[in-house]
Amino acid sequence: MKQILALGCLFFGLVACSSAPNQSDNSDATGNQNNAIEPSDADLKAFIQAYTGFQALNQDLRPSPQHGGIYVRTYLDQAADVAYKSKSYPFPDGAVAAKEGHTGATGPIERVYMMKKIKGYDPANGDWFYAMMAPDGAPRLKGKVSLCISCHSGAKGKDYVFGFE
Ligand code: HEC
Repeated sequence: MKQILALGCLFFGLVACSSAPNQSDNSDATGNQNNAIEPSDADLKAFIQAYTGFQALNQDLRPSPQHGGIYVRTYLDQAADVAYKSKSYPFPDGAVAAKEGHTGATGPIERVYMMKKIKGYDPANGDWFYAMMAPDGAPRLKGKVSLCISCHSGAKGKDYVFGFE
């Protein structure tokens, strides 16, 4: 009996050891340390500095009638890019899609859009946080924005991300 107990302890001891949580840095491109929490205005400002380092889906600006006729360039952070290219949905927690909106084909940036996957944030609508910002990151709209959700629901089969297909 003693032997069995000792073996059991050894076994569970090993399991406990091998399943020790990885102390990884959970921060992401929006500077958010906790993905369950909506990005703050400061996080949105940090995002504005970060998204131009993401993978761009297009280089030449494309007109986007769905976003008020502005000209757009879409960016995906690394997690979003991997999921998008391999069509593996849903997008992982923390994945970010950005869209830079210009006043014309060669015009300056007028606004920036963002979608961020936040696990548990809005389960009925795919757990996306939406924001539309001024070029400096000041939010004009943010949160569970029904305008954004209602149209992006049209891409539900691709976890609410349209891309250019
Ligand atoms: C009337 C429909 C419609 C509305 C409203 C809309 N979108 Fe989109 N969105 C699209 C379509 C279509 C695309 C892909 C083509 C493009 O970029 O123009 C897109 C692309 C995006 C992308 C790039 C990722 C992707 O899905 O391709 C982001 C980020 C985005 N939208 C954010 C927003 C936010 C934030 C709002 C609300 C403020 C919003 N959108 C409102 C239709 C819409």
